[in-house]
Amino acid sequence: MQDKLTNILRTAKQQIAASDDLTVLDQLRVQYLGKSGELTKILKNLGNLIPEERPKVGAKVNQIKTQLKDLLTERHTSLQNAALDKKLQNEKIDVTLPGRGGHLGSAHPVTQVKNRMIDIFSRMGFSIVEGPEIEDEYHNFTALNISEHHPARAASDTFYLNDDRYLLRTQTSPVQIRAMEKYGVPIRVITPGKVFRRDYDATHVPMFHQMEGLLVDEKTSFADLKGLLHNFLNEFFEQDVVLRFRPSYFPFTEPSAEVDLQCAMCEGKGCKLCGSGWLEVLGCGMVHPSVLESAGIDSEKYTGFAFGIGIDRFAMRSYKINDLRLLFDNDVRFLEQF
Ligand code: FA5
Ligand code: MG
Repeated sequence: MQDKLTNILRTAKQQIAASDDLTVLDQLRVQYLGKSGELTKILKNLGNLIPEERPKVGAKVNQIKTQLKDLLTERHTSLQNAALDKKLQNEKIDVTLPGRGGHLGSAHPVTQVKNRMIDIFSRMGFSIVEGPEIEDEYHNFTALNISEHHPARAASDTFYLNDDRYLLRTQTSPVQIRAMEKYGVPIRVITPGKVFRRDYDATHVPMFHQMEGLLVDEKTSFADLKGLLHNFLNEFFEQDVVLRFRPSYFPFTEPSAEVDLQCAMCEGKGCKLCGSGWLEVLGCGMVHPSVLESAGIDSEKYTGFAFGIGIDRFAMRSYKINDLRLLFDNDVRFLEQF
């Protein structure tokens, strides 16, 4: 029996030392130490031995079991470490290799222009207010004194939603009403945002951006409006810009005007883009008394002026872009020039 045990120990030691992966090692553990393993079998059959042999053999078996357990654990650890080393070796990263080169993004030219405008108006004491892009007919038209049958309401100009009372706002002017409803007067706000119209050519896109301005107080005049816009334009373009205030008509202002800048492409000579040598950039006027009344403001006491700037047209002029649609094709090669 002693010989048998010595043999088992020797073979087991050899096999453990020779095992080179964790599954094989686990099989050996089951084979020697498992419930139906060789050593367990001997322990179970101790009763068949002569009485004086039993304690000796029992002790020996337990001693071998402990020894094998230690060997198995030791081998297990060393196989595991080897596997980890191998994995680390394969996954080695050479931090000295040159990088792949990142792509640096930048703000869209329209956003750059918008931010520049916000900056100038903020310094003039205007606060920013925003309104919804999906508007109701009341705020986009009715409250702005735009009559029921005004052509601007026509579906050929306006994107209506399925429910005809709602539409994609065609201008930022509805925010004038929302701002006065919410904050009352006196008020001095700008409202930048997206607007939508059924337009499509080099100077008209279906989604564009406006910056509405509204100032209502006890004493305001058309001269204030002209002065403010002229200052704004000179500051924006960092030069004494050539412009003209052209009499115009909006149902929500009286009197009304539009501002044209000399076309940057032809310097006023007249070209394919502008036709006349001028490019319209904004509409403005003195707020119509009935608009003030719509917002619950006493039009005997208060007057005000408003303007709606075409942000995209400013980008067009600043960057000498000859077709507005290029701004929205989202071709990065085009956009990254600015
Ligand atoms: C208006 O939208 C008025 N709400 C402006 C206003 C506000 C007047 C407050 C009085 C008081 P108009 O339709 O002219 O006006 O548009 C204003 C500016 O938006 C234009 O001068 C032009 O610069 C720009 N614009 C108009 N349509 C487009 C378009 N389809 N694509 C790009 N820019 C446009
Ligand atoms: Mg116009």
